[in-house]
Amino acid sequence: MPAMLNHAIYARRRSRLINQMRRGIAVIPTAPEVTRNGDAHYPYRYDSHFHYLTGFEEPEAVLVLVAGNAPQSILFCREKNMEREVWDGFRHGPEAARIEFGFDAAFPIAQLNDKLVELMGNQPALFHPLGAHAVWDDRILELRSRVQAQARSGITAPNEIHDVRMLLDEMRLIKDDGELAAMRRAAAISTAAHLRAMRAARPGRMEYEIEAELLHEFRRNGAQAPAYTPIVAGGANACVLHYVGNNTLLKDGDLLLIDAGCEVDGYAADITRTFPVNGKFSAAQKDVYEMVLAAQAAAIAAARPGVRWNEPHDAALCVLAQGFIDLGLCQGSLDAVLESESYKRFYMHRTGHWLGMDVHDVGAYKLEDNWRVLQPGMALTVEPGCYIRAADDVPQALWNIGIRIEDDVVITSQGGEVLTGAAPKTVAAIEALMVHT
Ligand code: GLY
Ligand code: MN
Ligand code: MN
Repeated sequence: MPAMLNHAIYARRRSRLINQMRRGIAVIPTAPEVTRNGDAHYPYRYDSHFHYLTGFEEPEAVLVLVAGNAPQSILFCREKNMEREVWDGFRHGPEAARIEFGFDAAFPIAQLNDKLVELMGNQPALFHPLGAHAVWDDRILELRSRVQAQARSGITAPNEIHDVRMLLDEMRLIKDDGELAAMRRAAAISTAAHLRAMRAARPGRMEYEIEAELLHEFRRNGAQAPAYTPIVAGGANACVLHYVGNNTLLKDGDLLLIDAGCEVDGYAADITRTFPVNGKFSAAQKDVYEMVLAAQAAAIAAARPGVRWNEPHDAALCVLAQGFIDLGLCQGSLDAVLESESYKRFYMHRTGHWLGMDVHDVGAYKLEDNWRVLQPGMALTVEPGCYIRAADDVPQALWNIGIRIEDDVVITSQGGEVLTGAAPKTVAAIEALMVHT
């Protein structure tokens, strides 16, 4: 996308937020760099809210917005520093950042405290991601105290403090065309990675060898990072929902559950596929797999505008609970299994979450105690599963079967657009793909 167009989008988002604030000042810092050990850092990832409003990727930066009659959008960032740039790379510096990113003003980050004391004076309200970072909460309150100390000069400090995320989360929940383009790209790269993983899997390989295929496919296509730590879970490991060890030998006869997605320009994909290590489902694996696939189809069919958030989950749950009864995993009628929640032994998570800049994206799921209604532009995952641990009261053929099937769906005016459907998921498609030469 041409740079000018991009920056106009960020400026429009800032204006929208300023209009919603109506009056007051917002202080929105980006994420800190985090030391891993010694002089090594974790890979830097900007704060999603900050980036949503600026497109600015450097650390040590803060966005300040002033609402009211004379709205302003101000960036604080690192100064140019040729010596540091030799070591760590390019810095825009305030002057170039102001012009390139279209802020009304920009100042060195070292001036933040003094400038904020000036800017907060006589503002009625302060907006901040309250509670997100204790260090920032303390710093903002300390600066507000400095404003209060000017009372004898007739200057007042903000009397209201709001969590700016209440406004920003709702803005981010509805994706615009630029966001959807990034999500489609993340979905396409992640889909390619799952295809590659299916082709690479076979008995005798290690889980981390398959993880390496995924990561290589992400990166060689320009994804900046995995959107979350990939789960590559063979056999019983698939029954550990957040398994990330990825260090076990893949065995003939086992299933392999892969939950992996990449991040492109700040937007995540989140895909899970489960398939046989040897390329052929056993009868028992197929029974469970077809049940989860039917549950996913029911949930995807229910993901459309005008329905409430819980409806895809409830649709999947009915299929799974009936399936658990049919497989001898749960006893009693469908109503009894749903009522007692005995299904939770085998399906203990919900069927999806919002997806966007964060893999578990922001946005309320309920409004005033009601599940919210799906609208065009919302993006969510649909990811039913079934996790059967070894136990005396469970048919042995089903032991250690862990299956999840996860796709990413954008709500459109017509229904739901599945972004990740090109990753094979029918038994026939998976077995056809995995015929090894
Ligand atoms: N990969 C995280 C999730 O599926 O929610
Ligand atoms: Mn997910
Ligand atoms: Mn996932």
